[in-house]
Amino acid sequence: MQTLPPNTIRKTTGKHRLLVTLIHMIDGFATSAGTARYRDRFPSLAHAGHFRQPAAPGVSDLWLSSIGLGTYLGETDVASDISYTQSIEQALRSGINVLDTAINYRHQRSERNIGVAITHLIDSGELHRDEVLVCTKAGYLPFDTELPADQRDYLRKEYVETGVAPSGEIAGGMHCMAASYLDDQLERSRRNTGFGTLDVFYLHNPESQLGYVPADTFRDRLRNAFRWAEDAVKDKRIRWYGIATWNALRVAPGDRSYMSLEQVLDIAHDAGGDDHHFRFVQLPLNLAMTEAYGLGNQTLRGERGSVLSLAEQYGIAVVASATLHQGQLTHGLPEKLKEVMGLDSDTETAVQFVRSAPGLATALIGMSRPDHVLENVKVASRPLMTIEEWEGLFSPAES
Ligand SMILES: NC(=O)c1ccc[n+]([C@@H]2O[C@H](COP(=O)([O-])OP(=O)(O)OC[C@H]3O[C@@H](n4cnc5c(N)ncnc54)[C@H](OP(=O)(O)O)[C@@H]3O)[C@@H](O)[C@H]2O)c1
Repeated sequence: MQTLPPNTIRKTTGKHRLLVTLIHMIDGFATSAGTARYRDRFPSLAHAGHFRQPAAPGVSDLWLSSIGLGTYLGETDVASDISYTQSIEQALRSGINVLDTAINYRHQRSERNIGVAITHLIDSGELHRDEVLVCTKAGYLPFDTELPADQRDYLRKEYVETGVAPSGEIAGGMHCMAASYLDDQLERSRRNTGFGTLDVFYLHNPESQLGYVPADTFRDRLRNAFRWAEDAVKDKRIRWYGIATWNALRVAPGDRSYMSLEQVLDIAHDAGGDDHHFRFVQLPLNLAMTEAYGLGNQTLRGERGSVLSLAEQYGIAVVASATLHQGQLTHGLPEKLKEVMGLDSDTETAVQFVRSAPGLATALIGMSRPDHVLENVKVASRPLMTIEEWEGLFSPAES
């Protein structure tokens, strides 16, 4: 029988037993003082450049770990809930203070696992809320805990008939960015995690709407979503907002799912003026997907560059997803690459590559197992690759 962390209860619904957080909201958010205090508990990691301050206004006060824990993959069962909860606690005890989730991940279980893990460490005096950056996302219509027998019927009853998601604003039957819907999702995320304030609220793969609506409708929806987000910042329910993307920022202009960051920031400006709170973008970056660095698909006042090369000028923090290409880079890397990077293991090589990317805030790794946390965090004690070493990996091979 596995032991559940304190501050959780077992609740039985039908034949399924679930982990749920006790209902009490924890105040606070990641701060300069809190994240510096956290950094100081890990001097050997700090010495290796593991904690850094992203060059984005406000965010630059924070010390964020070069590796963050993601919660996308995994089964939707109690054993995985327990394993994720233990992994998150292990990560927070090991020098990882960036956590990434989304309301739809594992049917809301991942958000709850984060809430349980952090609450446990706060209650035991091992962590303070102001030491950790908690990021979530909304957009995809989520189920709750498990797949319902009739998925369409569930979504219609839960979101359309309640008036939460206007049917005309649901793209492809699965994605919505309407203010009433985002508000509903944020309230669920606050309840799931137990945090009064979520540090970062991303629109989840907004580009998935581009396959269904014209570009001007898409921009209007984005503007309305950002206006809602600015209000949520004023209400102290979120600290910053952004977009978490899969294709939008790593395809060429002209591609149907392409998004221009300059245009997105103009829209944020429309929504919040000079003091808008759009600060974070997320996109894949790994040894097999290098567009964030290598593809000059963005512009800023006429200057062309990649997302990473322009991030500082845009004033945004860039977070990498799928550091291990969803587990595929844990084996089979070329020996030559490992040799050049001076690492024995494929996984360490893949992690070191992403966390060393110039201009990157944090490399997210999905880790539902505590032993994977311990293995991956070993890389954090290694000095980052220099820019020359990192860019050297892209140089044409000598003939
Ligand atoms: N568009 C978006 O918004 C978007 C898209 C994708 C991802 N993300 C975010 O980015 C995070 C990371 O991406 P991802 O989870 O999709 O993929 P990933 O980090 O590339 O890979 C995660 C997989 O690698 C395994 N793994 C981790 N460490 C390992 C190790 N040392 N040895 C062997 N296997 C290891 C994990 O296994 P275990 O689980 O068993 O530990 C998991 O199956 C996500 O969790 C999510 O938070 C966002």
